[in-house]
Formats: sequence, structure tokens, C-alpha cells
Amino acid sequence: MTGGAWWRNAVFYEIYVRSFADSDGDGLGDLPGIRSRLPYLRDLGVDALWLTPFYPTPDADHGYDVADYVDVDPRFGTLADFDALVADAHALRLRLIVDVVPNHTSSEHAWFRNALADPSHPDRARYVFRPGRGDGPPNNWPSNFGGPAWTRDPRSGEWYLHLFAPEQPDLDWHNPQVRDDFEAILRFWLDRGADGFRIDVGHALYKDPELRDEEEPFPQTPFASDWRAAIDRPEVHDVYQDWRRLVDGYDGDRALVGEVVFSDPRRVAAYTRRDELHMAFNFALLFEPWEAERLRGTIERSLAASEEVGAPQTWVFENHDVPRLPTRYGGGEEGLRRARAAALLLLALPGPAFLYQGQELGLEEVELPPELRQDPVFHRTGGARPGRDGCRVPIPWTREAPAFGFTTGEPWLPQPAHWGNLSAEAQADDDAATLRLYRDALRLRPQLAGPLDWRDSPQGTLVFARGDVLCAVNVGGDPLALPRGDVLLTSEPLPQETLVAGTAAWIRA
Ligand code: GLC
Repeated sequence: MTGGAWWRNAVFYEIYVRSFADSDGDGLGDLPGIRSRLPYLRDLGVDALWLTPFYPTPDADHGYDVADYVDVDPRFGTLADFDALVADAHALRLRLIVDVVPNHTSSEHAWFRNALADPSHPDRARYVFRPGRGDGPPNNWPSNFGGPAWTRDPRSGEWYLHLFAPEQPDLDWHNPQVRDDFEAILRFWLDRGADGFRIDVGHALYKDPELRDEEEPFPQTPFASDWRAAIDRPEVHDVYQDWRRLVDGYDGDRALVGEVVFSDPRRVAAYTRRDELHMAFNFALLFEPWEAERLRGTIERSLAASEEVGAPQTWVFENHDVPRLPTRYGGGEEGLRRARAAALLLLALPGPAFLYQGQELGLEEVELPPELRQDPVFHRTGGARPGRDGCRVPIPWTREAPAFGFTTGEPWLPQPAHWGNLSAEAQADDDAATLRLYRDALRLRPQLAGPLDWRDSPQGTLVFARGDVLCAVNVGGDPLALPRGDVLLTSEPLPQETLVAGTAAWIRA
């Protein structure tokens, strides 16, 4: 796909700020740390960076509980550091989008503190406070992080809504003040040079104003929002039409990407109609096993849904909320081999691709002992759900301990002892390394153009063309003879000219 706005075919790289690079030895990543690693990201060949929240936060959900939307947490740097980061990124032709968290604030945000301190304070109307039903909460809604979605305010006896942790009170988007607040927040970061936003929990801003009970029992699905009748309301599309106008009013093709979490791609695509979000994450591949027919079905359904609204489809195999790909695909050597083949699949699909830091190093999920786990998901479910710490371990830059170049201090989560071998330094000059595979694929990716065109292939395999380049993936089939043509890239060395299960190739026909 050539032409059109930059984001239509961009490769984004997600930086989980607290785990990327630490410049001051406090064990937490920060903005100057990111700035020092920009050359690595440019050499990797990505087009844009997405920074997870770096705003002042008490860290109940590691930054997704924002106490001030227009500042930088001192642990992560300063506004001047942000400006310098944007300037350097732009000088290297890297775009930079920031995370906006409009569904909820931190309970430490001044608005919420005012709301609790004085029930007649106007800030109280920014949140959803309601009287209970008898001694219990106003309805049966559960929190996505376990337990009820309501917490009682002891002073007034009313309950407040939180779809996530109690430290993340939900905003009331029916209040026009909240809409105004967020337009000002968007402008603040756009004026500072941000190239757009990743919108947290983009589908849930408006809730059923009548607060009707959800039907029980609540299904246990990976797409928690699928069954919640209380969210995905029509009013939210209005907000995104406004945001689209606002963002398009700036120069430089700034872009909005929504976190919209439904298993039906048509429900997600509805958020990317022409006058709404530029993109929405497509999480379907996060929950598909390594099976050819399943992968193909998901890709086809995803593309059909986005074509219907004229938006590009996006592709995601990893992010900061799910276990690492090599682990999901079985772990060990086989898991890594499959994850490498998946890299060629990902980067051959038409439309924006999102990488998560460390994916290019082939990092696996880290098993952490319970006493080190920090994710509220783990603690609020009494350990029934392991939580997301295992994919958030600080990434290794250099071969040597301590902390493999991430920090001169103690990293906030411990890194496995063997990660020196997976470090960016160790992989930099190794032809067989996963880092090398990603770099090569990103360099060659512009040669893949045009729509995806499936080719017949044996069971257990996927073959499609993008222009004159074929992507062949043997997911779990019999050895597959390499299609004829010039081999541009293979996920493993192929001595026999065949693709065995768990390998992939790009071939110019
Ligand atoms: C999104 C974020 C996740 C966070 C949640 C609540 O799903 O990706 O990390 O916990 O929103 O803000």
C-alpha cells in the first residue's frame, strides 16, 4: 500500500515506559532513558512509538491511574524531557503517540479528592456516585480486575463506580464538563508535538445511565467487554467524531488509535468509521492459538470488517496486557520458532502493525513469585488470575548483569539470569538472532504492497501475496516446498528449501 497518510501502513512500537530504559538508577524506566535509546529504535526500522502513561500516578495500575493529565511524573522525568524526546524522535523521523486514559482517573486526582471531601463539590459530578441498593452497591456490575465495580464512600454512604481498581474511579461522560476537560488535554499534548493518541478503554466511556444489572452468570471470556450490555453505547461515537475533528485540525496527520476490546471485529470497526478514530487495535490474534485455519479465519474476518468501513485493519501479537508470544505458542525453542514465523506473518499483513518492546528480542513471559507480583489483577483476584507482570519485566540492553543495561540500580521487577544472551547487544551482530529477523523484515516490508491475496496451500499452512511478494507460513503442516522465486527472508535457515512447521518465508514471485 503506497500513498495515503503515514499511519495507514506504519509499524508502531509500544514502549512500556517503566520497563524500557532507566536513566537515573531508580529502577524505573523514564523519558530520558527512552531518548537515549532512540537510535536503536530508528535502526530497528519502526515508524512510530507509543508511550504508555508517564503522567503523575500513585501506581495502583502502573500509570493507568492518572493523577494529573498534563504533567510528567517526576520519576519519569519532566515536561522539558518530554519536549526533548519529541524533538529528538522527530529528528530521527520517528512519530510519537501518547496514551490518554479517559475512562477513569486516579483516586488521587484533585477532581476525585474534591469529590470525596465534599459531596456538594462540583467535581463530584465528574464521577458516578449513586446510593446503594439496601446495604449493597447500586447494581451487580463486576470490576474487570475482580470484585464489584463499586466502592462505598464512607462519608456520604454513596457508592462510586470503577470498572477497574477502586483507585481508578470512572468518569461520568454524560457530564459535558468531562468532554471539555479531555479536549483540553488532547490539545495540551498536540501542542507539545505529540503525533496522536492511544485511547485507553475506548469503548467504555459511557455506561447505561439507568445502571441496569448485567445478566448473570458473567461469562469468563478473554474479551471481557463482549457481554457487558452497559457499555459500547452510541454516545461514545459522538465523542470520537469531535476528537477526529480536533486532531485533524492540526497539521502533520496526527492519528487516534482506540483500545476497543470486542471479539467481533465489526463491533471494533464501528469505531473507525470515516469520521471517527483513524485506527482501533485488533486484538483477535492475541487470543488465537498457533493453528493455520484459526489464524486465517481471524485474518479474513478482520479484513472484511475494516473494509466495510474503509479503515485500515491493525495487527497486534503482543502488548503489556498479555503473556509474551513465544510463551503463548508453547514456550522453549518451539515457542520461539513459532513466534519468529509469526513475526513474518504480522509484518506481511496489510495495515498498521504494533510491536511491543522486547518482542523483537524474542523475550518470553517471566514467571514471578507471588511476593514480587504487583499487578492489581493478581491481588484483586486472590491470585486466581496471574496478572500481567510477567510481560512487563524490564528489557535487557547489554550482556552483563546487573540489570543488563536497563538500570544502574535495582530493576522494579527482576530479570531472568539468562536474559543477557537475549539482550539487544548480544543480538546486534548475530545473523540468527530474532532482533536481526525483525530488522530485516522491517527493512523489506515496504516491498509488500497492495491488498492481501490468498493462494491455495496445503492444510496447516498459509500462503498469500502482497503485490509480487508471497508470504508463506507453515504453521503446523507437512513440510512445504518453498514457492518459486527469490527468497527475501526466512524465519529460520532453510537448508532443504522447504518450510517445516513453525517457519515462514517472504518470496518475490
Ligand atoms: C487498558 C490498559 C491496561 C489497564 C486498563 C485500565 O486495558 O491496556 O493496562 O490496566 O486499560 O486502564
